[in-house]
Order: sequence, then C-alpha cells, then structure tokens
Amino acid sequence: MRIFSGIKPSGDLHLGNYIGALSQWIALQDAHECIYCVVDLHALTVAIDPSELRRRTLDAAAWYLALGLDPKKSTLFVQSHVSAHAELGWILNTIAKISELKAMHQFKEKSKSNPDNINMGLFDYPVLMASDILLYDTEGVPVGEDQKQHVELVRELARRFNGRFGETFTVPKSMLMKHGARVMALDNPAKKMEKTGSVDGYIALSDTPDLVKKKIKRAVTDSGREILFDAKKKPALANLLTIYHLLSGQAISDIEKAYAQGGYKEFKDGLARVLIEFLAPVQERYGQYRGDENNLRALLADGASRAKKHAEKKMIMIKRRIGLYE
Ligand code: TYM
Repeated sequence: MRIFSGIKPSGDLHLGNYIGALSQWIALQDAHECIYCVVDLHALTVAIDPSELRRRTLDAAAWYLALGLDPKKSTLFVQSHVSAHAELGWILNTIAKISELKAMHQFKEKSKSNPDNINMGLFDYPVLMASDILLYDTEGVPVGEDQKQHVELVRELARRFNGRFGETFTVPKSMLMKHGARVMALDNPAKKMEKTGSVDGYIALSDTPDLVKKKIKRAVTDSGREILFDAKKKPALANLLTIYHLLSGQAISDIEKAYAQGGYKEFKDGLARVLIEFLAPVQERYGQYRGDENNLRALLADGASRAKKHAEKKMIMIKRRIGLYE
C-alpha cells in the first residue's frame, strides 16, 4: 500500500501525536511504501513566528527519526519543498464546497478558540490536506481520530474529481489505532490531548523525567480506588491505562492485576516509570539527529527530491485532465 501522513510543526510534539499517528507510521514502513511529511504550510494557519516555524520544522523531522522513521525505507520531506501541494490545493478548491468546509469540526473549534484569526487558510486547511494525500496516489492515511472527518472529505473530493474528469485519484482510507486513536488530556478526560491545550494536559516528547512525574501526579482521576478499565464510568483512568498499555506492551488485564492491591498512587508511579523509560532513548536519539543539522537538512532535501518526482508526474496528468494548456 502507498501510505501518506503528516504533522504540522506548530507546537511541541506530544504523546497523542505519537500514539495516534507516529507509532503507526513506524510500524507501517516495513511492509508499505510510506511518505511522511512535516506540513509547514498547514502550520501557517495559526500565527507563528517565522524563526519558530523554521526551528519547529527541523525539530519535528528529528522527532520522527528519533522515534524510528527510517529515511531509507520511507520518504521524509517538508511540504513547502514540493510546490505541487499548493498548486493542487488551488485546483481542488474549485471543486470543494464552502458548505462542506463549514461543517468541519476542527474549523469550528479553532474558530471558537481563536476568534481573532479565522483566516482563509484555516477554513481551507482540509483542501490542502486533500492535495497532500491525493498527489501521491495514497491508499492509507494513518492518523488520529480527530482527522477522520478530514479524510472523509478527501475521499469525497477524490470521487467528485474522478466523476467529473475521469479516473485520476486513488480514494484513500484513514487508518486509526484500535486503542489510542484519541488520547485524552491528562487534566480533562473530556478533551483530547493537544499541543495548544494547557501544559498539564499533555506529555511532550521532550518532557524531562521530573516534569513527567509531576504531570502524571496531577492527572485527573475518577472516583473509587480500583484500577479497572471502564471507559464509561472511569474515562480518566481508561485513558491512563491505554497509555500504559500502548507504551509498555502489557495487556490491560495484566496491568489491572498488577495494581489490584494498590491504588492510584502506585498506578501513577508505575505509569510515570513506563513513560520515562519510553522517552529516555527517544530523547537521546532526538539530541543526536537535532544536533547534526547538516545531516538533517540533507535527509530532508533527498526526501523532497524523491517526493517531487511523484508529485510532478501526477500534476502533469491532473493538468491534462482539467484542460490546462500545456
Ligand atoms: P496534527 O499536527 O494536529 O496532528 C498530527 C497527528 O497526530 C494525531 N493526534 C492525535 N492522535 C490521538 N490522540 C490525540 N490526542 C491526538 N492529537 C493529535 C492527529 O490525528 C494527526 O494524525 N491535518 C493534520 C496534518 C496533515 C495531514 C495531512 C495528516 C496535513 N496533511 C495529510 C495526514 C495526511 C493535523 O493537523 O495533524
């Protein structure tokens, strides 16, 4: 299968990004043809300082590599290095409907939380995402649950285009984790873990062991003392158990058994340990990749030239189909 996915470099990468998306990216690269992107054009939809955007773009690429993305197996590049993304975005704009974009949950949420910066890019965000995905004849899009609606729209745009101009685009499918497609905020189990949320709500991949311990200690829990997975009655604990399970590889029933005698304190101490053990080697590798900027830039340039080959070929076909004069 051809796989494509991206993360926007607008804030710290966090555990939600890893569990919902990046862990899938890494697992998929052995058996599939994977293309992974740092979507810097998408990050422009939130007010971001230019030097911060530049820094975070390289940070994101270094985290992907530190988590196990292998640039020999997968294509890794920065979205703005392949101009076809923006070009196809314009073309797809002419078939996307305003009513469809108005229905996007993320647009509604972001408009509410940022009433002073409801820009056209924010509104048009899913169309650029469609362009990312459709340019590469993508079949699978590994993402968290919050992106499912966007991928549905991408499918609709692909079908509409094909219907109007002839078979051009592959209709992609979103790929979600069975558990962990929506990691919730530590300080509010009713909200998803987000980089723009409160600092206590998320574990950044860069968090120090002390910070991890502090955040886990402060994490909201439910009433009662028993460590039992019950998504309805104990949503906060279910979220923590899911994180424990996915990072340690232990079955949820085994974790419940291990803490049957203890209460939340023991469980939280154990979870903090699991997190710290997971993060330590990743942070070390991150330091190595991020510390060698020349190597990082060379890897990204190589990825961009591979991506460009696909994208430019596809653009020629698309332009012919819609009647752009050659
Ligand atoms: P972004 O940058 O907001 O998030 C990156 C990825 O992390 C997932 N994610 C989560 N998964 C589980 N629990 C959470 N709490 C959580 N928070 C974030 C997201 O679902 C996503 O997979 N629009 C995309 C970026 C994008 C893209 C693309 C993705 C642009 N073009 C093409 C796939 C294909 C976004 O803003 O993700």
